Amino acid sequence: MVNNSVSRRDFMRRASKSAGASLAAKTIFLDPLSSYAQKASVAASDRLRMGMIGVGEQGAGVLRRAIAHPGIECVAACDLWDGRHTLAQEIVGKPIKCTRHYQELLDDKSIDIIINATPDHWHSKIVVDSCNAGKDIYSEKPMTHQVSEGFAMIAAAEKNKRIVEIGSGAADSWTSIKARELIASGAIGDVRTIEVSTGRNTPNGAWESWMPPPGLSPDNLDWNTWLGNAPKIPFDPIRFVRWRGYRAYGTGVAGDLMVHLLTALIHSAGIKEPPFRAHSTGGLYVFKDHGREYPDVHHVIYDYPGLQVIVKLMLTCETHESAKYYGTRGLLEIGGDGITITPQDGKDYDPGWYQQGYPRAMREAYEKQWHLDRDAELPKKKPEPVVYRNPESGQGLDHLGIFFEAVRTRNPKIITEDAVFGNNAAIACHMANASYFSKSVAVWDAKAKKIRTA
Ligand SMILES: NC(=O)c1ccc[n+]([C@@H]2O[C@H](COP(=O)([O-])OP(=O)(O)OC[C@H]3O[C@@H](n4cnc5c(N)ncnc54)[C@H](O)[C@@H]3O)[C@@H](O)[C@H]2O)c1
Repeated sequence: MVNNSVSRRDFMRRASKSAGASLAAKTIFLDPLSSYAQKASVAASDRLRMGMIGVGEQGAGVLRRAIAHPGIECVAACDLWDGRHTLAQEIVGKPIKCTRHYQELLDDKSIDIIINATPDHWHSKIVVDSCNAGKDIYSEKPMTHQVSEGFAMIAAAEKNKRIVEIGSGAADSWTSIKARELIASGAIGDVRTIEVSTGRNTPNGAWESWMPPPGLSPDNLDWNTWLGNAPKIPFDPIRFVRWRGYRAYGTGVAGDLMVHLLTALIHSAGIKEPPFRAHSTGGLYVFKDHGREYPDVHHVIYDYPGLQVIVKLMLTCETHESAKYYGTRGLLEIGGDGITITPQDGKDYDPGWYQQGYPRAMREAYEKQWHLDRDAELPKKKPEPVVYRNPESGQGLDHLGIFFEAVRTRNPKIITEDAVFGNNAAIACHMANASYFSKSVAVWDAKAKKIRTA
């Protein structure tokens, strides 16, 4: 399960070499990871013209970050709500072509790359259409809304030799990169269990206080196209905003939040496939308004070959995002402060408990002999914990910048979360939902590329 070759990317090697001065006992401050975004400028031939599809809550931020990169110019934006045409121009800072029809961006030969930040039920079609139109594409997570979509997206990327990156920055966070390096180096032995969790406890965190923009109506929104392949229903402004809670458009807390936890651990543990089994449970306890369908508490146990992954996700109590990797030679914990490794050598340092049930003379003789036999060979003290901290809190590799660099160099190998990776993470999310809704174990049928439930 654990991939032992960490030399895949130059910058990972640089990151490990930079694990430098130990300023406090057993605390190691890491240098910032090198990042493609640090380039001050790019050659004219390396300039990329981008088209933005979906300029909503996430798309607005991605657009801002994208054009902050040297050599990236947004020349057109597409959204189904006209208000977001205004927003796109505000962000870009000049008039650009704005349309409700993304095919116009794909038909524009001057556009090199597409960024797709539409709701989940639109990801697949836009990625496939973009690849077929010869565009490289950065598409938001979760990669898919349905299992079958992922394989069509991979095929379209391969057939057209397109660069595809999926937008979960967790893949390139410093913690997932450093954890991967430590695990692959054997720092905690064989990892057999991973536990990850996160929690929120506000209506905002559960998307429930998100309100439709004033004046939103079918006059300024193409509602029928927004529905896509979902059942046709009359205009519903709540669904337009809070689509994450409904099965026809979103993937619930699994595809929205759990996917980041899974993406990080898939990278750190070197996982290359979907889980073969998932069992999930939970419920919709608090945020029941407007017919929301997905649970607000969702816990999952996944089985991968030789590895169990336990996910705790709740919108009913705020908790720090955390990850624990349980290895045969130690515990690796990722928390607010950084990464802590608590090594375990698996040795007995004293005679233990069982002889407490011997009569005194027998017990004392046993313990004396125990020490005589073993003390000389035991290390003087137990291994101590080591803490890794990043001086620039939270800083990782530049996920978007890696996409731009991959496009410029035509080198998809520098991308961590490519379409295959993104698909594996998304399948795990779909398995969590399949298990929850079927109230049964979800099994991945790799041959049929389908999830089976009872
Ligand atoms: N990577 C992250 O950390 C992160 C964070 C938040 C959201 N996301 C993802 O980003 C995506 C968008 O989320 P959001 O919160 O911005 O949603 P949103 O509803 O705020 O915005 C989506 C926009 O896409 C537009 N749209 C829908 N279908 C379209 C189509 N066919 N053509 C053109 N425009 C279309 C909508 O009109 C809307 O303006 C989701 O997949 C979400 O999971 C990722």
